[in-house]
Amino acid sequence: MKMPYILITGGSRGLGSFLAKYLAKYNYGIIINYKENINEAIKTKEEIAKISNIPPYIYQADITKENDVLKMLEFIKEKEINLEVVILNAGIDIYLEMPDKNYETFKKILDVNILGNFNVTKIFGDFLEEKKKGSLIYINSDNAIDRNDYISLEYDVSKSGLLMLAKDYSKYFKWVKVHTIAPGWLDTRMNNFPEWVKKQIKFTDLNLVGEVVLKEIKSKETGNVVIVRDE
Ligand SMILES: NC(=O)c1ccc[n+]([C@@H]2O[C@H](COP(=O)([O-])OP(=O)(O)OC[C@H]3O[C@@H](n4cnc5c(N)ncnc54)[C@H](OP(=O)(O)O)[C@@H]3O)[C@@H](O)[C@H]2O)c1
Repeated sequence: MKMPYILITGGSRGLGSFLAKYLAKYNYGIIINYKENINEAIKTKEEIAKISNIPPYIYQADITKENDVLKMLEFIKEKEINLEVVILNAGIDIYLEMPDKNYETFKKILDVNILGNFNVTKIFGDFLEEKKKGSLIYINSDNAIDRNDYISLEYDVSKSGLLMLAKDYSKYFKWVKVHTIAPGWLDTRMNNFPEWVKKQIKFTDLNLVGEVVLKEIKSKETGNVVIVRDE
């Protein structure tokens, strides 16, 4: 039997890279998708190759480009990879003070966090549905549930839209399981704050997120929404 593979969007760094290494320890093959940071994608791939006998892959694709996502699926088919799980992790935030917020920045955030994830859901969800097996794991944020603030307005709107996207698809798919993981603050480049600001934030342990993602991958239910944070 072919080993099951997990595709992680935005797997080059931050939470995506952590999850890639975490899940590789549990005998999953890993495909790391990235947008531009090839060096960090290669580094993650090399780290996985040290701990796993299942060959990891990297693949460049901008999830906001439908054609990139289609080509990523073609790559997986050509390699005859047994894809079972997609972790929709890629996401962006751009912090702007209230008076500086603007249409173009808002649009950029919605484009990646909602529409890019729509491309991945439609293309990979339909593929897994045809196989009659698989899971889509959405990396959302507790901002979409109970930790919103006006400073992250665009991000909060995008993540609550993503929450509904996952909920609706969980009702649509017959075979594919859909789960949403909503972590609290994570110490990644997304929060590129000065050290004095970081000291005031209670970051969530990435291992805790890894544990929950693994549990949801194995879950037989669908539509779960799990908040993960150190209280
Ligand atoms: N950081 C937090 O406090 C926090 C809290 C809760 C939830 N989250 C969520 O966790 C996820 C990961 O965040 P992070 O903190 O790890 O962020 P990060 O360190 O900034 O990493 C973002 C990742 O997304 C990729 N990416 C961005 N735009 C993309 C696109 N258009 N197509 C493909 N890949 C793209 C990046 O690829 P490149 O390296 O190639 O640019 C990178 O691998 C996000 O969905 C975020 O909203 C974060």
